[in-house]
Amino acid sequence: MLEQVEWQMHRFIEALDNEEIKKLFKALPKGKRLRAKLVLKVAGDQPKAVKLAAVIEMIHAASLLHDDVIDEAQTRRGVASLNATEGSKRAVMMGDILYSKGFEELVAFESKIAKIVASAVTQLSIGELMDVKLSESFSPELQSYMQMIYQKTASLIEATAASAALLAGKDEKVYATYGRNLGLAFQIIDDILDITQTSEQLGKPAMHDFEEGKTTLPYIYLYEALDQEGKEKLASLHGKVLDEAERDWIRSMMQESGAIQRAYLYAKELGEEAVRLMRNKNENALAEIVEAMIERNF
Ligand code: FPP
Ligand code: MG
Repeated sequence: MLEQVEWQMHRFIEALDNEEIKKLFKALPKGKRLRAKLVLKVAGDQPKAVKLAAVIEMIHAASLLHDDVIDEAQTRRGVASLNATEGSKRAVMMGDILYSKGFEELVAFESKIAKIVASAVTQLSIGELMDVKLSESFSPELQSYMQMIYQKTASLIEATAASAALLAGKDEKVYATYGRNLGLAFQIIDDILDITQTSEQLGKPAMHDFEEGKTTLPYIYLYEALDQEGKEKLASLHGKVLDEAERDWIRSMMQESGAIQRAYLYAKELGEEAVRLMRNKNENALAEIVEAMIERNF
């Protein structure tokens, strides 16, 4: 059914009747389609599920196009980003087109569904703004990080599960909590993989978050664990291009202090709560999505 979502997105794009848009859309890497999978697993038997999945994936793709411009990212999902190949102007406009076409289709849904998805987009935009602000200085506050990743990443996944539940006449609140926990765990694991994986595995430069200014959860836990001298050294490396010795120091302190393990355990706890909620509802496929995500390569 995932192919039907791809087909639906193409239909939406074809309807715009513009060759350049078609070309730019074709150039976008597809990614995991996590949000589409969620809609289909929650509401796959509903006639409008494919459309809802396509709308949410288009909004998500738009947010990544804008994010890559903001982060000045040269790669996305292992290939050159659209801003790198076509320039930032086209990447921003393509984001705007995907976003507004997605909204045009979203308003055809029941207003409660449209409202949940629309307000999540406001949340994710605020989350991105908060991410930009936090990245301007070393920011080891756990609460700010959690709020930022909730808004930037988990809010749309929460809204995906909740809107699909509404479409299927299921308990919206339970699915929202599932999506929220999945989204938080997903972002934390992403932040861990930035440190533990190689550039080849990631499809983007490794250990890049801290260079970009992002004080992610492993760095917050590491900072907590270090002595005064270590704290000062870590803070001094924030936002700068790291040499090999500095990377090695961070990596070994991350392992030695247990910061990576602690961040992983936290993601696992959040994920396990989501798994429990779904096992209680006999939604085994949804539980397995979380389990597979938690077990991503370390
Ligand atoms: C990736 O974060 C970014 C997001 C999950 C959200 C970005 C949101 C916006 C740019 C708001 C604009 C929204 C629309 C719909 C136009 P990351 O940089 O931590 O992850 P990455 O490593 O995948 O880049
Ligand atoms: Mg980014």
